Amino acid sequence: MSVVELRTVVAAELDRGRRRSLELLAPLPDEELVRQHSPIMSPLVWDLAHVGNYEELWLLRAVAGTPPIDASLDDLYDAFRHPRPSRPALPVLPPPEARRYIADVRGRVLDVLERVDLDGDDRPLLAGAFVYGMVVQHEHQHDETMLATLQLMDGEGYRPLAPPPPTGTPPARPEVRVPAGPFVMGTDEDPWAYDNERPAHVIDLPAFWLDTTPVTNGAYLDFVEDGGYDDRRWWSDDGWSWRRQAPDAHAHPRFWRRTGPGSWARRRFGFEEDLPPDEPVQHVCWHEAAAYASWAGKRLPTEAEWEKAASWAPDGAKRRYPWGDADEADRANLGQRHFRPAPVGAYPGGTSPSGAQQLIGDVWEWTSSDFDRYPGFRSFPYREYSEVFFGSGYKVLRGGSWATAPCAARTTFRNWDHPIRRQIFAGFRCARDS
Ligand code: AVJ
Ligand code: FE
Repeated sequence: MSVVELRTVVAAELDRGRRRSLELLAPLPDEELVRQHSPIMSPLVWDLAHVGNYEELWLLRAVAGTPPIDASLDDLYDAFRHPRPSRPALPVLPPPEARRYIADVRGRVLDVLERVDLDGDDRPLLAGAFVYGMVVQHEHQHDETMLATLQLMDGEGYRPLAPPPPTGTPPARPEVRVPAGPFVMGTDEDPWAYDNERPAHVIDLPAFWLDTTPVTNGAYLDFVEDGGYDDRRWWSDDGWSWRRQAPDAHAHPRFWRRTGPGSWARRRFGFEEDLPPDEPVQHVCWHEAAAYASWAGKRLPTEAEWEKAASWAPDGAKRRYPWGDADEADRANLGQRHFRPAPVGAYPGGTSPSGAQQLIGDVWEWTSSDFDRYPGFRSFPYREYSEVFFGSGYKVLRGGSWATAPCAARTTFRNWDHPIRRQIFAGFRCARDS
């Protein structure tokens, strides 16, 4: 790609991210942007201005050395200085000022983009437009976080209008066998890959079986109806204490409601709907995923197993997506087009060479792995993106959900969260030894 083309791509991606953020929040009155809808989430207006402040820090001050637009903002929007529960008490910018601030930053960023040296080898931040990719992905990641907040809103809540996803025929074979052998984990080359995806390194795995698709609501319901939540055998010690902490709420996935014997509904934004049996289960925490896997006589895959099943091809070439190297919109349910996961079998065009489907675009998938550094990891460009989270009990999620932007989903991408979290759009699939 020439530098001129790269500039055009960067400007278009910046714009796409911003339009998405503003469209998401457009239906909400300002008081809903200021309110904290859950103690584990930020007020939406904090996310919005935090996105602008991050952009100012990296694309104006780091790239162009400009002075702060308003020196008091860095502290307010520093996620580490102010954990989520404390954010409603902060004197944050009210919605109109927040919108003005992020638009002001964006205008200046586009001016800088015109003159910055995007292929200067002497500035690693700019190589391959890395820092622009980081900022674009950051905005989309906060859009996904804001969607989780919107899903948590009470009452009528947020009712997005979106066409339903395609229907699907569940695949004939419930599991695929991934053959033994080495594969390349992570990447050195992907220009927008975060530090935690690097460096590329070879991992040799024994053969294993992996579920062809994510576990569906229907399959998960069998576990619920079989008394899985009351059978100590399936739960780890931590999982069992999580289970007992809230005997009613922690007895089924979040947003499910029993409506009669064997019949269930689920709340999706402001809508209550019959539980769709063929859709991947979402809003389960790591403990629930692990308990289901034990009940099924299986286990969660490691993140290396997940990445091999998604990215390894018999020709040895590592794939950026399960279907190949190009981001092709109709091969996955990415990018919030349907505001929900698609039923299993809906995207056969996204099948990986191993035969697994819907690895990207429906639900984040819990893995058995703790979030930690790869051998040879170097933090870049700041420790607070990844490094400070290593080794602190976070579990890795792979793939990407229906709320994940295409530019923040690839086979090497690593997400992480606490094993008790279930407001995120996460499900799982199971594995077993061969
Ligand atoms: C990668 C989703 C765990 O939201 O904490 C946003 C992404 N990092 N701002 C998070 C992120 C800084 C991060 N996750
Ligand atoms: Fe952030």
